[in-house]
Amino acid sequence: MGLNNKKFKIFAESFKKHTSQLKASLRKQAAGFEKEVRKQASDCVKAQGKYLRPMLVYCCAPSIKPQDAELQKRASSVELIHLASLIHDDVIDNADLRRGEETIFKKFGARTAILLGDAIFAHAMQLALSDGSREISMKAVETVKTLSQGEIMQTLAKDRKTDMQKYLSIIDGKTASLFEFACFLGASLECGSGSEWAAAAQKAGKRLGRAYQMFDDVCDWKISESESGKTAGTDFLSEKQTLPVIVLLGEMPKKESAALSKNLKSRTPDELKQKMRRFGVLEKCVKIFEGEIAEARKAVAKFEGQNAKLLEFCDALSDMMPHS
Ligand code: FPP
Ligand code: MG
Repeated sequence: MGLNNKKFKIFAESFKKHTSQLKASLRKQAAGFEKEVRKQASDCVKAQGKYLRPMLVYCCAPSIKPQDAELQKRASSVELIHLASLIHDDVIDNADLRRGEETIFKKFGARTAILLGDAIFAHAMQLALSDGSREISMKAVETVKTLSQGEIMQTLAKDRKTDMQKYLSIIDGKTASLFEFACFLGASLECGSGSEWAAAAQKAGKRLGRAYQMFDDVCDWKISESESGKTAGTDFLSEKQTLPVIVLLGEMPKKESAALSKNLKSRTPDELKQKMRRFGVLEKCVKIFEGEIAEARKAVAKFEGQNAKLLEFCDALSDMMPHS
């Protein structure tokens, strides 16, 4: 089963002008690092991702021109926070591959990766805080605190007893918080930070962030390395509690589920995949994922016109999820 991103490609194409400005801005940011660190910083921004978070900034600011300096500064800061968190995440997950390239961790080792993540993160915060608005500054700082706490909660939750509620609080932290912030950055530029649009867009962002992490969790099981461009199976190896595992444990008869969760580590991924098929786990994951996207659509439903690109994002994300 491959990754279906046909709709996403069309959607991304509609932001081509925006993202080419963004790429130039990211290259410029990396070029501003000290001579000795420039190569590592440039490598980090060179590996092309999907730019989902910057695109959320753009979706929520539909009347702002792609070349608008403030828009691009906001999009860059959110992408750089994301990049810094991935550099650290790949150290934590011991991952060799990201975006089809060797990770910074694999190329330069854990020490450099941790420090480079710190430097890029600090740079991103500099951009976010340079706006001068206290509200944006506070939100930027809160977001990164929430993001890091989500990752810490995940690291601590290795007892295989994570339930759905705990899972949601982990992903709300590690992923949804940055999606929410991206939507706030765009919407507050469009209509002001106290606007109804900013509040609604943030709500949608949180749901989309949840949905995206669920999609990512499913991909760790369903998608090959060559299709995803990142090391597969790291979730399982690092004992991460992901949606498919939680759904599986919830669907099995109590006795069987208790026995499995006790010695999950000794099971092979293939054995678990077989069980997942038996208990219809993928279908259930898709249903939960679609529920989050429906909530995102609902949050912005009344903003007809203004919500068009955000609704397209919902459709594109929904289309990407493996359905079989
Ligand atoms: C990817 O998760 C990781 C995150 C969404 C967040 C990671 C956050 C930190 C490491 C905190 C540090 C933060 C900063 C800003 C320096 P995943 O492993 O499930 O996804 P993957 O499949 O893409 O690796
Ligand atoms: Mg990871």
